[in-house]
Amino acid sequence: MQIVSGRKGIKQAADHLRSSNIVAFPTETVYGLGGMAYNDDAVAKIFEAKSRPKFNPLIIHVADFQTANRLVDFCPQSLKLAETFWPGPLTIILNRSNNSEVSLLAGAGLKTTAIRMPDNDIALDLICAAGGPIAAPSANKSGRVSPTRAIHVSEEFGDTIPCILDGGPCLLGLESTVIDFSDAIPTILRPGSITKQDIEEVLGKIALDTGKKPRVAPGMMARHYAPSAKLRLNAKTKKRGETLVGFGPEAPRDSINLSPTGNLREAAAKLFFTLRELDKRNIIEAAIMPIPETGLGVAINDRLRRASKK
Ligand code: TXA
Ligand code: MG
Repeated sequence: MQIVSGRKGIKQAADHLRSSNIVAFPTETVYGLGGMAYNDDAVAKIFEAKSRPKFNPLIIHVADFQTANRLVDFCPQSLKLAETFWPGPLTIILNRSNNSEVSLLAGAGLKTTAIRMPDNDIALDLICAAGGPIAAPSANKSGRVSPTRAIHVSEEFGDTIPCILDGGPCLLGLESTVIDFSDAIPTILRPGSITKQDIEEVLGKIALDTGKKPRVAPGMMARHYAPSAKLRLNAKTKKRGETLVGFGPEAPRDSINLSPTGNLREAAAKLFFTLRELDKRNIIEAAIMPIPETGLGVAINDRLRRASKK
């Protein structure tokens, strides 16, 4: 793994991103572990490196408002917040626009997208040099604290990631405030340095749920995409009337194969697309071949189990 910095470092990190690799980069809040937001394979690498047992949706980092406006449907209130606080530590959750090219895996199959414009010149330059928005969670392994220096990232990931773009210590050191506009009442899902008071100064006194009520974790939300098809998991063969979703070289040719070579990263990259595809083809019953319960397979199986419960 290389630690790079300066103009040259931004170019090197952008080259990695354009080749579907992942890189750690600084923001004003904490370091992120980024991949190109439109690239399912790069996004699968992020989940693989984080070693998370579930797909947790990622924040999409943009460098300009036009891009944000293409990816999500702003409402007047969220627009006002973006105008006031961007670039800055405010992540806004909005419905994905119909023509959004953001990886379905980055949104963990949700119909919403979390989006923000970081207030850090290195991050903004990287997005521009890479030529598109960057999907990134904080650059720590699952269950560990967020990194605020390049050294924290290198201690955590070692050679499992190819490149860390060093921008010095993060200015704020606290993750962004996350506000969700996908429900009738805007909800602060995660407090951060932009406070409820800051937000109400812009929007006026609005009903704002500060998330004190217990909320289901994003991965468990009812809005999470589940296909209408009935899914039968760990199927060795298909029964009559079923469509087979295969995995690996043994899968029959007429199945929808998540990865003909049995590669879990490829299967993760195709997972949400495939679940949607079942509905597009009006499939009523699908049999899913076993996915090994290792590495990314744990998150894939978690998602499939939840998608199979009706
Ligand atoms: O400051 C930050 O926000 C940093 C920097 C790198 O931008 N990023 C960060 O990402 O903290 P992460 O993945 O560690 O936290 C993002 C949070 C997660 O709790 C995730 O569940 C939630 O935002 N989130 C992302 N997309 C969501 C969505 N569509 N709906 C609900 N929650 C979402
Ligand atoms: Mg995090």
